Amino acid sequence: MNRENWGSRFGFIMAAAGSAIGLGNVWRFPYVAGENGGGAFLLIYLVIVAVFGFSLAMTEIALGRATQRNPVGAFRALGGRRWMPAGFLGVAAGFVILSFYIVVAGWTLAYVGFMARGMLGSTDPAVLGARFESFIADPLVPLYYAGCFMALVVLVVSGGIGRGIERANRWLMPALFGLLLVLVVRAVTLPGAAEGLRFLLMPDFSRVTGATFGAALAQAFFSLSLGMGCLLTYGSYLSRREPIPSTTATFVGLDLLASVLAGMIVLPVVFSFGFDPGSGPGLTFVTLPAIFASMPGGAVFGGMFFLLLAIAALTSAMSILEPAVAYFVDEHGLSRRLTVAGCALVCFMLAIPSSLSFGLACGLQVGGRSFFDLMDFTATNLMLPLGALLTSLFVGWRWCDGARQEIFAATGVAPIWIGTWKLVLRFIAPAGLSWIFLASSGLI
Ligand code: PFF
Repeated sequence: MNRENWGSRFGFIMAAAGSAIGLGNVWRFPYVAGENGGGAFLLIYLVIVAVFGFSLAMTEIALGRATQRNPVGAFRALGGRRWMPAGFLGVAAGFVILSFYIVVAGWTLAYVGFMARGMLGSTDPAVLGARFESFIADPLVPLYYAGCFMALVVLVVSGGIGRGIERANRWLMPALFGLLLVLVVRAVTLPGAAEGLRFLLMPDFSRVTGATFGAALAQAFFSLSLGMGCLLTYGSYLSRREPIPSTTATFVGLDLLASVLAGMIVLPVVFSFGFDPGSGPGLTFVTLPAIFASMPGGAVFGGMFFLLLAIAALTSAMSILEPAVAYFVDEHGLSRRLTVAGCALVCFMLAIPSSLSFGLACGLQVGGRSFFDLMDFTATNLMLPLGALLTSLFVGWRWCDGARQEIFAATGVAPIWIGTWKLVLRFIAPAGLSWIFLASSGLI
């Protein structure tokens, strides 16, 4: 049977950008940049995305398109049974990521309602902070929202590629960018915004440590959806007519743009309201309501913003689920609908301890981390770098000519770029990824 293809190049780019642009850009990037010194972090991040991110994204897409399979099937087809664990790692990472991702996505969904009902009409950080803390500590309400969010993901992914995932992304992504732009204009015209912009855009290298590089590398992988076979699976639905380099450059560029725009919204507000830019995961949920409370029509605007944040999360969540779904459908012949429902149920069960770790189960710590942090850390700092390491070693050393053909044939790309890509895959990425993996796991 022929594999279903994306309906158009635009459809693929929107789906890949939809996967890449998510909570990682709007919720995670500003606070990670804040914790790591702002401008210097941004500069390191740009270089890492351009060098590692871009090369690995093309490679993953090529693996999928050449084999027309899910991650496990793709590694088996090209590398034999010995390489199948690399694919399984990706499928497993999807479950781990989705289990904490839907918790935060659920918060965004809840905040749509809170904003619209004017429940956050304060510009006082202490009040907004307390409101957020008490909401996430509730044992049931956040889980209810995480469940609603998961149900939306199931609805779209059950529809398949063209009629489900592509159709949703074609509409939702342009809307998301429109809103990001409007909010940037509002944020940068706030009094005191210049200081926030300076923090984001002016590098201060005195703050750079080894940890800054690790944080930038981990953020790049998470943001570009690399290392778990997500782009591989999306690439398996890409027509052979589409050029991989320019298509990849477009969605990587869109992802970068979204992160910078999100930083330009959140950081000026942080400075103009006197918050701490390194205040961690609560940054978006505490600072953004403050802007909305300070502007006319803020309740409606704020409701729309959190809705679009939920949408960004939705388009990413679809892509996190798809590798596992493709695996069960391709390899075990299960029906798509049944598989989607089963995988979603497993993710939801795993989300329960994550959500409770902000309240009832906050005392339950593993190695000094709450369950939520443990899931985030395991996926982002261990599974994704390890997956990307195996992918770069496999392609760099075992399937290099095949990948070169798949990516560069008939594109007219200059040999120097092809040489750079090869160098990254063979040496630079394995070195950087081994380092982040070993450093994260405490082995060095
Ligand atoms: N890139 C998404 C984000 O930035 O929110 C998260 C993500 C999606 C991670 C898909 C991994 C993945 F495979």
